[in-house]
Amino acid sequence: MKFFIDTADVAEIRDLASTGLVDGVTTNPSLIAKSGRPMAEVIAEICDAVPGPISAEVTATDYATMLREGRYLASIAKNVAVKVPLTVDGLKTCKTLSDAGTPVNVTLCFSAAQALLAAKAGAAYISPFVGRLDDIGAVGMDLIADIVEIYSAYDFKTAVLVASVRGPQHVIDAAKLGADVVTLPPAVLRLMYKHPLTDKGLEAFLADWAKTGQSILGAETDTA
Ligand code: E4P
Repeated sequence: MKFFIDTADVAEIRDLASTGLVDGVTTNPSLIAKSGRPMAEVIAEICDAVPGPISAEVTATDYATMLREGRYLASIAKNVAVKVPLTVDGLKTCKTLSDAGTPVNVTLCFSAAQALLAAKAGAAYISPFVGRLDDIGAVGMDLIADIVEIYSAYDFKTAVLVASVRGPQHVIDAAKLGADVVTLPPAVLRLMYKHPLTDKGLEAFLADWAKTGQSILGAETDTA
């Protein structure tokens, strides 16, 4: 399973990328707005910080302009994946860009029917938003199960990128269903490290170790 980070905060991305666990980044117009910086500059910096696919989203809503925006975004760096919304014009743009070899992430997916259309349009990624479905009383993870089942029945190459993730349990559920990618808000990735028994166990180990008066690196010096 691949881990993408869902943010446009370059400092945060660089910090998390240093763990070696980050395979890509997703952004959206709201995240770019939150960064308060010019989009092209932010995307170029993220592409430099993380070698994996970096999703950059078009903001036009008509095919001709979406295509121009998509081509421009793809020209920023080799690892840009153009993100388009799941609309008729968005999927037309997806088909044209995908046919030309540009990877496309189709976003704002809320149904299996939409995911099927995106796969037929050649999307490299489909982004179903589980958290926003949960927010309205639906079960977001049921959508992931449906898409994984449909894509594997027809051997579609489109990767299932679980988006709108709210916590570690979403990640576990997505992994159990065999989703290809999760895009994580930085706070969720940090939470995944945490368990109170890890903290408690480490505290006890270190207290016992301190009583020995030993130092591992001291031993290395002694034997050198
Ligand atoms: C995905 O690419 C989106 O940027 C993101 O996951 C949306 O999440 P939200 O529902 O928390 O805004």
